[in-house]
Amino acid sequence: MKVKNICCIGAGYVGGPTMSVIAYKCPDIKVNIVDLNAERIAAWNDEDVNNIPVYEPGLSDIVAAARGKNLFFSTDVEKAIEEADMIFISVNTPTKTYGVGKGMAADLKYIELCARQIAAVAKSDKIVVEKSTLPVRTAEAVKNILENTGNGVKFQILSNPEFLAEGTAVDDLLNPDRVLVGGDTTPEGQEAMNALVEVYANWIPKDRILTTNVWSSELSKLTANAFLAQRVSSINAISELCERTGADVNEVARAIGTDSRIGPKFLKASVGFGGSCFQKDILNLVYIARTYGLTEVADYWEQVIIMNDHQKRRFASNIVKTLYNTVSGKKIAFLGWAFKKDTNDTRESAAIYVADDLLNEQAGIAVYDPKVEEEAIYRDMDYLATRGSSVNRKGITVYTDPYEACRDAHAIAILTEWDEFKGYDWQRIYDNMKKPAFVFDGRNILDSDQLQKIGFIVSSIGK
Ligand code: NAD
Ligand code: UDX
Repeated sequence: MKVKNICCIGAGYVGGPTMSVIAYKCPDIKVNIVDLNAERIAAWNDEDVNNIPVYEPGLSDIVAAARGKNLFFSTDVEKAIEEADMIFISVNTPTKTYGVGKGMAADLKYIELCARQIAAVAKSDKIVVEKSTLPVRTAEAVKNILENTGNGVKFQILSNPEFLAEGTAVDDLLNPDRVLVGGDTTPEGQEAMNALVEVYANWIPKDRILTTNVWSSELSKLTANAFLAQRVSSINAISELCERTGADVNEVARAIGTDSRIGPKFLKASVGFGGSCFQKDILNLVYIARTYGLTEVADYWEQVIIMNDHQKRRFASNIVKTLYNTVSGKKIAFLGWAFKKDTNDTRESAAIYVADDLLNEQAGIAVYDPKVEEEAIYRDMDYLATRGSSVNRKGITVYTDPYEACRDAHAIAILTEWDEFKGYDWQRIYDNMKKPAFVFDGRNILDSDQLQKIGFIVSSIGK
């Protein structure tokens, strides 16, 4: 079977970039990306391609090349389902905020809604692909819904988790380490898997397209994120020890990373990992392990989150302690709000939690981020309030000029590793700050010797 028409439900950080790249690389396949969020779809359709809702280096060029030719964005979910022979589910699967599994399990309500909608609308056989990150054995539930509520047509369920990282999504999609496709071992299952493999084979060498059973594929995604996050928590744990002992965490990372068994990537000590995936997926893994009664397994992985929370908290408390144990009424400038550079995504960004702690100490926070919109920052404050924090929008001021954000500040905190921060006129920034002027480098990106020569008092993670 050759795929001719793809529908993707969910036009977010995964659906948008992945499907744009498929459309770009497969001109013979029509790709419809649909979403309930009309505002988001309008932004994807914005005449000025620089206004698409997801900022990713290189993405606007890909969208510009394919949009209107074989790539379409729409809110008409039913029509796109009906037309498609392959449907990707790429909706959000956040941590549950209610009921059993609250704060741990993945909330699958959006997945179930998609499955019910596909079942209600489909009038011909479809291949349904789980692109969202899902707990192991979710495909079983999706299959049940499709088969019990459908119109008698046949469905094949595949798992095809996405491994792209934000900020490098386009490169990751054009040149992935691997693509993973999980499916049934039945002949129909194998045929469906082949159909998806052939889509990717348009630009990815076949030896990088791995096939497994559905359960291995689902679990591999949670496991990959757990291992990656664990590396960050491991180096962050060592960073605290470095600060006490005079070791330098960058030197330690370099020394261990040259061991080919360890490898050099993902060893950057930081103020803590953020993003919509790591915490959610580990909590989900921990929850699954607990539901199977695997207490030691669950406790082991939970420690990765505990360490990360500790790292964010100790960054904030170090600021308070260093500023003579009070930040009340003091202006603290945040350079960066996104959870990492080259994205406008702020979900679970460490900056949010550091701001929470400092606002509770009555600091005034001035934020500058090159790509995050003002309203997104305020929404993050609202989100904290829904989680029981007493903070609100009032303590935060958002700037579009970094020099103004830092003017009259007592301290600067680097929360995101944006490259542009390194090229600032730090003498000018120093001249306009309150003295003594402090820099807390939560990303280890600035030249601390140079800053100290200017007169700053510098505190970097792991040094
Ligand atoms: P997102 O919130 O950016 O996008 C999800 C979109 O789905 C939203 O626009 C929402 O309106 C839409 N949606 C929800 N229910 C719908 C429905 N019934 N019909 C139509 N549209 C619907 O989320 P995301 O970051 O793109 O993540 C999607 C999934 O991919 C999650 O499971 C996530 O864990 C996984 N994932 C994310 C990343 C990442 O870097 N963000 C990477 C790999 C995997
Ligand atoms: C992650 C996975 O990398 C990706 O494969 C998966 O598909 C989705 O989740 P993402 O969250 O977009 O991607 O970005 P990633 O580069 O993994 O960074 C996550 C967080 O860890 C960021 O806050 C980043 O700053 C932090 N990090 C990463 C570190 O603090 N140190 C590092 O060495 C690497």
